[in-house]
Amino acid sequence: MAIAATAAGLVTALFGTTASAAPTPGAPGVGDPYYPNDGNGGYDVSHYNIRITYNPATDLLTGTTTILARSTQELSSLNLDLLLPIKSVRVNNFLSRTTANTGEVTVTPPSPIGNNQNLTIVVQYEGKPSTVKDAKGANYWKKTPDGALAVDEPHIAQWWFPSSDHPTDKATYDVSIVVPQGVEALSNGTFAGTQQTLNGWIRWNWRTVSQQATYLAFLAIGQYEIRSSTAPNGQPVVSAYGEDLGANGPAARASIERTPEVTEFLETQFGPYPFEAQGGVASTGIGFALETQTRPVYSTLFFPRGANTSVVAHEMAHQWFGDSVSVKTWRDIWLNEGFARYAEWLWAENQAEGTAAEIAQYYYDRRPAEDPFWQFVVGEPGAGNEFNIAVYDRGALAVHAFRNAVGDEAFFETLKIWQATKKNGNGKIEEFIALAERISGKPLFALFQTWLFTKGKPSPEDLGNPTAAARTASAATPPKAIEKLDLTRDVLVRTNHLDHDHADHDHAAHDHAGHDHN
Ligand code: TRP
Ligand code: ZN
Repeated sequence: MAIAATAAGLVTALFGTTASAAPTPGAPGVGDPYYPNDGNGGYDVSHYNIRITYNPATDLLTGTTTILARSTQELSSLNLDLLLPIKSVRVNNFLSRTTANTGEVTVTPPSPIGNNQNLTIVVQYEGKPSTVKDAKGANYWKKTPDGALAVDEPHIAQWWFPSSDHPTDKATYDVSIVVPQGVEALSNGTFAGTQQTLNGWIRWNWRTVSQQATYLAFLAIGQYEIRSSTAPNGQPVVSAYGEDLGANGPAARASIERTPEVTEFLETQFGPYPFEAQGGVASTGIGFALETQTRPVYSTLFFPRGANTSVVAHEMAHQWFGDSVSVKTWRDIWLNEGFARYAEWLWAENQAEGTAAEIAQYYYDRRPAEDPFWQFVVGEPGAGNEFNIAVYDRGALAVHAFRNAVGDEAFFETLKIWQATKKNGNGKIEEFIALAERISGKPLFALFQTWLFTKGKPSPEDLGNPTAAARTASAATPPKAIEKLDLTRDVLVRTNHLDHDHADHDHAAHDHAGHDHN
């Protein structure tokens, strides 16, 4: 986004074409090095109004999405990212021609669009999300026996609404979902009530007023127990628990209901919570968790041994690192996962289950130099490898090494200034390093080069834990939090690989080997 569409804009010449340069097609992507067709060029979205009807019995999704945007060039056509079949597209009320090619929809209005125009793009579409595959043959829509989940990363939006599907084009959202009576439908932000529809179905309304990336918009439809409360800071909290959680249900509640407490703690580490609402959803329909904005979605697999607040700390940390400050390109994923994983260690220390230094030392020691874990380059994971275990654990070790190198004052100052200056925006690894150098006054290029861009196990000096106490404690007995931290990481990392049907069997096997060293 950037600029809100104004009423005045809507009455200006719809397709101003008098400018000098010839209108050209908007680019089909924003040029992400890993996913060049993600997002679209030539316009900037400010708002999505998504109105869908979903029938869990048939998986049929019927939608009308209205996109408010502004052109950033003269356009002869523009693209949208959507996999479902399109019935019609109107641009500023003019019916437009569309051609679709697995996720890239080209929209050609009857006359070209001038630069810097307000655009209202209305897309009518209908289809069964389970049946449509992306250009790589993948389908991330999750049909469940009683509903469905639109929860995935980096790609999920194109299974349920048309968008410019890249984290650099953030917008606000109104999401309205009509489902049969008795079915619950959850999304991000603030609950805006339900209405009966004429045919006896029920409409659920959700509103997100903070800027949000497309992959962080979610749907959870099915049988849920919904709990609404108010956080100590006055924010609305909405959590939802699948009615099929079984024996994991109480542990899920005992974890996710502590979200406001975890959020309060993270505010002391990262600065003010960036959004307007909180919550969480627990479901058997996924095998991982995702930091869907204001309201993460959690698999029940995190809760087989009782409460697990480390995954809550992880997902809520993403509200700062990932959601408010999003990747500039998917190559920057360390800025999400390295910091969310490190937040688990900070939370463990706060809960007196081991210090972050002890936990870092433990994870550093556990894998010998020959472990292939150390060969992964966290700062350049490559498309499809963004969620390698090393991005999490070596990534968190990198954060801790940085902290050791600059001291707590400069460390937490850097995190807070990063958040304050990048809020609702995007960041690159190189920008973070530059800020860290500016705040600490220390040259840090070599440290980050070692931890993020160089293969091999860094030396103990590179980790820089100052006291022998941390090191010996770790060797003797693992910090108390390790069992939970391992579980959290394994479910986040391994299961999503299996879900995605591009399981990296090598890494999974090595991870098991890693455990054997304990
Ligand atoms: N980003 C998620 C987290 O760490 C985990 C994750 C990794 C994921 N890959 C995914 C979630 C793929 C959904 C789909 O919290
Ligand atoms: Zn994460």
